[in-house]
Amino acid sequence: MILLKQALWSGRFTGKMDDSTLDFTTSLDVDSKMAFYDVMGSLAHVRMLKACNIIPAEDADSIIAGLKVILDEIRNDRFELDYTLEDIHTNIEFRLTERIGPAGGKLHTGRSRNDQVAVDFRMYLRDCALRSASCLNNLMTSLIKIAEDNGGTIMPGFTHMQHAQPVTLAQHMLAYAFKFSRDADRFLDAFERMDKCPLGAAALAGTTYPIDRFMTASALGFREPTENSMDSVSDRDFVNELAFCAAQTQIHLSSLCEELVLWSSQEFGFVEMADRYTTGSSIMPQKKNPDIAELVRGRTGSVIGALMTMLTMTKGLPLTYNRDLQEDKRPVMESIDTVVACLDIMAKVVATAEFNKERMLEVTSKGQINATDLADYLVTKNVPFREAHAIVGAAVRESIETGINLEDMSLEQLRKFSDRIEDDVYGYIPVSKCVERRESYGGTSPSSTDVQISKAIEQLMLRDERIRQETQLIDNCWEKLEE
Ligand code: ARG
Repeated sequence: MILLKQALWSGRFTGKMDDSTLDFTTSLDVDSKMAFYDVMGSLAHVRMLKACNIIPAEDADSIIAGLKVILDEIRNDRFELDYTLEDIHTNIEFRLTERIGPAGGKLHTGRSRNDQVAVDFRMYLRDCALRSASCLNNLMTSLIKIAEDNGGTIMPGFTHMQHAQPVTLAQHMLAYAFKFSRDADRFLDAFERMDKCPLGAAALAGTTYPIDRFMTASALGFREPTENSMDSVSDRDFVNELAFCAAQTQIHLSSLCEELVLWSSQEFGFVEMADRYTTGSSIMPQKKNPDIAELVRGRTGSVIGALMTMLTMTKGLPLTYNRDLQEDKRPVMESIDTVVACLDIMAKVVATAEFNKERMLEVTSKGQINATDLADYLVTKNVPFREAHAIVGAAVRESIETGINLEDMSLEQLRKFSDRIEDDVYGYIPVSKCVERRESYGGTSPSSTDVQISKAIEQLMLRDERIRQETQLIDNCWEKLEE
């Protein structure tokens, strides 16, 4: 048999394609990352073609055998890419026909690269969604651990980067834990929506062969087939959605990193990163730089960029497949790789950071961070809150002028502002009391953060279980397809 390496579509053409056309149109460097999924998609497709008597059983069997060899080559990094063939789909099909002969040409019956690439990318991103959610769970675990150890660690809470009210380190870390919990849920929600199989939509209109799309959908671990063939090959909102999930996660990471950078400065001195997750300076011997946090913050740019790329690229595209869509893989693959790497390292950076509790308390105790509590105290003495606010405002002014903290003022001094103030005020306004009394649901008191910790752990465990089940389901499919 003479096998000519020519384009899959060469029949219609008389002229040869220019080398620069191939260079310009190839997607192999990016879509070769989907090689495994492409073979799985083909295995599901050919088993269906056999079951529906669309191709002879013996041809199907030899295709299956050939695909298994290719799978083995891919797994062992022995699959050689031929850069004269434009993408991974073409590479695998050529390799198959090279191995098993003309029967290989029957694999593409009732299928197009349009539905093939759509199903491959869904399978690829489906795994990305599960992996991202799982990495988010790990980071959340590190944050919860800090919260468990620091229910009584007092620190300033900020609004407008100004001291606002005292909080605890537990409350601060849990704030991030819940942000990351939502990010993880978002990935799983996206997973849920992309859990439909476009294979069998063919080029755009479906096919005349009596295919069974429910069979391929279930063989590949999808809940069901997509409903409309034209939607199936033009839909990339599952890609955009994942790009958003990644961007939102990275934005949350960037806030955490920004705070860690600030907190490790001499001015704050709240935290010291472990030596093994920091770097020094080539010129200033004293430096210990929070480079990891800065890089994570910096990489937010490319992750948001991927989302903008996808939104812009899909805007105004007419139905159905257009070659523009080939540009969807690189940005999102890279953005998921970035987010996963950032989550992995931040889980370790956070887990090994040393918080300076004395410094946090010292900073909190200086100033008038307990002003709200003094006003709340007056409210307990039947002063309307608005009036109390004005009274405390005057006391704060005096505190700033004299440099004496509110709780360090004598009763006599305090009573200048209101004769409702009595000795019990000293049981009310020390920062530890301010924290302890914020027992409202979701508040910063140790009893409230204990509830939050249970909630966070519950969310984490539910998600872990869901990720485990989905992963298991997909792995079972791969095992079956390889039988
Ligand atoms: N390499 C192409 C992609 O990634 C495969 C689909 C090609 N389909 C086509 N009609 N040219 O989108």
